[in-house]
Amino acid sequence: MNFQLTEEQIAVRDAAREFAQKELLPGVIERDEHQRFPHEQIKKMGELGFMGMMVSPEYGGSGMDSVSYVLAMEEISKIDASASVAMSVNNSLVCWGLEKYGNEAQKRKYLVPLAKGEIIGAFCLSEPEAGSDATSQRTTAEDKGDHYLLNGTKNWITNGSTASVYLVMAQTDVAKGHKGINCLIVEKGMPGFVVGKKEDKLGIRGSDTHSLMFTDVKVPKENRIGEDGFGFNFAMNTLNGGRIGIASQALGIASGSYELALKYSKERKAFGKPIHQHQAISFKLADMATRIEAARLLCLQAATLKDKKQDFSKEGAMAKLYASEVAMWASVEAVQIHGGYGYVKEFHVERLMRDAKITQIYEGTSEIQKIVISRSVLK
Ligand code: CAA
Repeated sequence: MNFQLTEEQIAVRDAAREFAQKELLPGVIERDEHQRFPHEQIKKMGELGFMGMMVSPEYGGSGMDSVSYVLAMEEISKIDASASVAMSVNNSLVCWGLEKYGNEAQKRKYLVPLAKGEIIGAFCLSEPEAGSDATSQRTTAEDKGDHYLLNGTKNWITNGSTASVYLVMAQTDVAKGHKGINCLIVEKGMPGFVVGKKEDKLGIRGSDTHSLMFTDVKVPKENRIGEDGFGFNFAMNTLNGGRIGIASQALGIASGSYELALKYSKERKAFGKPIHQHQAISFKLADMATRIEAARLLCLQAATLKDKKQDFSKEGAMAKLYASEVAMWASVEAVQIHGGYGYVKEFHVERLMRDAKITQIYEGTSEIQKIVISRSVLK
């Protein structure tokens, strides 16, 4: 597979890098500390075309490929993984799902403002008792003829309070199992829809993660995506692409950790020389560089297959599984290289270490990725 980047892809990567340095780095420590969502920065990301990167220009998007998306996600995530998860969910789970499976009216009404970044979206699958076991949806969407009556609770929803549009999975016919699940487009402000408590998290503290409550919310039938009972397949197909986004986020956390550790190892002296001249440190840096490159290649491979419209579900899961392991490991190593400085906020690596953990949990835990991969290799 050829991973030679085009001029356009390099320009996207450089623009994302510059934006992250100029606009996301200032204030990232404070946003993390005070759990403050990067509202202004996300608005600018929309203006730059980062919130609907792969959506066709016809629907307000940037019309870029998935490889460019991986490159931009890595750069944004090096600096601010809270901003990048909002970006990833909007791009991969909300915009992609709507463009691929929504009808023309849904695209005009919802996709266009989402792709332009004028509003942001949320993807609502997880529930208090349905995380990995996603077919066990307890939220119900009772068919009332011209509308559905939505009741239930969703948990750990990214962009939970800042979103305007929510793609909500709900069970219409329990007897049909996963074939009885629908995906409904729910708007903030629909009577009976309440945004619940904000989670106080270990990492990605600048992102707003909430529970959502639905009590007799009347959702018009025209807000259902796809045929009756398509909701679970919609979620699975959408999550395949979402895993490329989170794999790239993990890659960015890993490479951001590595770049900080590399810089510090050249500045910090111990026992009469810069610490990178001690093999204990240079071997760590060599291991980090190698595993990060492997993670990057897995991300680019999955994105390239997606761009070629080939099946990438196994490769996306591999990229997410491996890149998230590398993010966790490399960020711990970066803290270790920084010694005592690594344990305090101003050196950034402790935040990256806290942010890394979620990449092994959301959009399918590492164990879910292994289910997806093993089903593919064993069939
Ligand atoms: N791609 C496409 N379709 C898939 C699929 C995949 N990777 N995995 C399963 N399916 C389809 C199957 O083909 C089947 O469809 P048909 O009946 O039409 O053939 C249907 O889904 C059911 O499949 P299974 O019987 O295999 O389902 P299962 O109960 O064994 O579970 C699972 C499959 C892979 C474990 C699935 O439940 C799963 O992916 N769970 C994890 C859910 C998850 O990732 N949640 C993350 C929440 S979103 C989030 O985190 C966003 C955020 O805020 C950051």
